[in-house]
Amino acid sequence: MSGPRHFLDLDQIEGATLRSILDRAVAFKRERSAGERTGAPHSRRLAGKVVAMLFERPSTRTRLSFAVAMHELGGASIVVRPEELQLFRGESIADTARVLSRYVDGIVLRTVRASTLTELARHASIPVINGLTGRTHPCQLMADIMTFEEARGPIAGRVVAWSGDGNNMANTWIHAAARFGFSLRMACPPALPPAAECLVWARGQGADIALTADPAAAVRGADCVVTDAWVSMGQEGEVGARHELLAPYRVDERLMALAKPDALFMHCLPAHRGEEVSAAVIDGPRAVVWDEAENRLHAQKGILVWCLG
Ligand code: CP
Ligand code: NVA
Repeated sequence: MSGPRHFLDLDQIEGATLRSILDRAVAFKRERSAGERTGAPHSRRLAGKVVAMLFERPSTRTRLSFAVAMHELGGASIVVRPEELQLFRGESIADTARVLSRYVDGIVLRTVRASTLTELARHASIPVINGLTGRTHPCQLMADIMTFEEARGPIAGRVVAWSGDGNNMANTWIHAAARFGFSLRMACPPALPPAAECLVWARGQGADIALTADPAAAVRGADCVVTDAWVSMGQEGEVGARHELLAPYRVDERLMALAKPDALFMHCLPAHRGEEVSAAVIDGPRAVVWDEAENRLHAQKGILVWCLG
């Protein structure tokens, strides 16, 4: 018997499945905007289902978009902070997974340690969704691919440039390059590279990924320029060193000028104007960051229905 449909990482889910989740997300978005016009109720595909959301770290988009998605699909969500659980007093992740599996239909987890996610999924008999770990953020990438394609058509064969930290978002863009067939040009400080095993996996799948220390080389001619915070959750003790290493990777108008004239700027948010991105770029005409944020809601619905539906 096959196990629950977890949404843990893009390298663990077939490209065709990811594409069908995105197709459904696009349909949900269309349906929602039609509903706003006509007053028709949104699809209640998850009526009666309940999702538990465990957030070890803060979240605005992930938490709210999952909660609204469950509500609009006719289900419910319960948000819990780990310090409110017996987990905090030493109950194991495995036992927590077994107990939650008796109450709810799915779990969304945000945690810094990726091993917590895999341990939870190993012992849960219900789907577990990765709501961000220190290693990856696959739900965000689903919304990002949807956003690019909404604005520019199929992403396959296009060039995406990353300038910044080789962090969880960078790792997930690497997975996505293999799954969605675009070229990825990554500029990261040599001291802050993306995870080697993600690169090895993606290149093994035939992905076209170039790694450089030079932001100009990565961005030149790109269809989309992406960056993320210099200090991710859990790295608050490294602020000074990271700012120094990452300052040359800031996405400003000078760097954007090297990309194609119609290149998009993307950022998963939260953003830090004047650090990883200038205000002129993120508040300028090429940024699609608010569409990315909105598309989290539609993409979450696609993911939830695939996992729980
Ligand atoms: N982009 C993203 O995941 O944002 P939150 O941390 O607000 O969930
Ligand atoms: N890299 C960031 C992403 C936040 C959504 C972090 O992990 O804090």
